[in-house]
Amino acid sequence: MIDLLKTEKQFISTHIKEGGTVVDFTMGNGHDTLWLSRAVGKDGKVYAFDIQQDALDSTARLLESEGADKNYTLILDSHHNVKNYVKEPICAGLFNLGYLPGGDKTITTLHETSLLALSAGIELLAPDGAILCAVYPGHAEGTLEGELIEEMLSGLDRRKICATKFKIVNSPTSPFFFLIEKK
Ligand SMILES: C[S@@+](CC[C@H](N)C(=O)[O-])C[C@H]1O[C@@H](n2cnc3c(N)ncnc32)[C@H](O)[C@@H]1O
Repeated sequence: MIDLLKTEKQFISTHIKEGGTVVDFTMGNGHDTLWLSRAVGKDGKVYAFDIQQDALDSTARLLESEGADKNYTLILDSHHNVKNYVKEPICAGLFNLGYLPGGDKTITTLHETSLLALSAGIELLAPDGAILCAVYPGHAEGTLEGELIEEMLSGLDRRKICATKFKIVNSPTSPFFFLIEKK
C-alpha cells in the first residue's frame, strides 16, 4: 500500500540539485533535515527552522551522530521569518506541519504563520524549484491548515506555479501533501 510520507520524497527529490540551497521549514527531530543535507551534498546549504529548542537539540544530535556534512544552519525562529535568513533562491523546501513527534502536542504549526511561510517559500523558489507541504488533518488545526493552504494554492497563477494535491480519498484523516512547482 502507498506510504504517502515516503512517496513525497520521490516527488521533491527530482527538484533538488547537488550544491543547491534548500529549506526545512519544520525541523522537528531532524529526519528531513538529514535527508536534505545528504541530498544537496557538501557544497549545498540547508536552512532548518523550528520554534522549539528541543527540536534544535534533537536535530543537532541526529546530524552529528549520522556524520552529516556541515552544510546546515539550524534556526530557532518561526518559519514565516524565512526571508530574514535565506537571501538566495532555493531549489526545494519541505513542510511537515503539525506537532513534534513525541513532544508537546499543544505546540503545533498554526495556519496564520504556515500560510505566510508557504508564501515566502514560494517567492524564494528558483526556476524548477519545488516545495513539498505535508498536512496532518487528524486534529482540528491540521484540518483548517489543509483547507486554507488549498484555497491559497488554488489562487496561484498556473503559468508560474503548478500546485498538485496527493490524498488518499478513502482515508480522510490520513496525511496528505501538496507539491508546489515553479516553472
Ligand atoms: C511534524 S513536526 C516536523 C517533523 C520533522 N520534519 C522531522 O523530520 O522530524 C512539526 C514541527 O514544526 C514545528 N513548528 C511549529 N510551529 C512552527 C513555526 N511557526 N516555525 C517553525 N517550526 C514550527 C514544531 O515545533 C514541530 O517540531
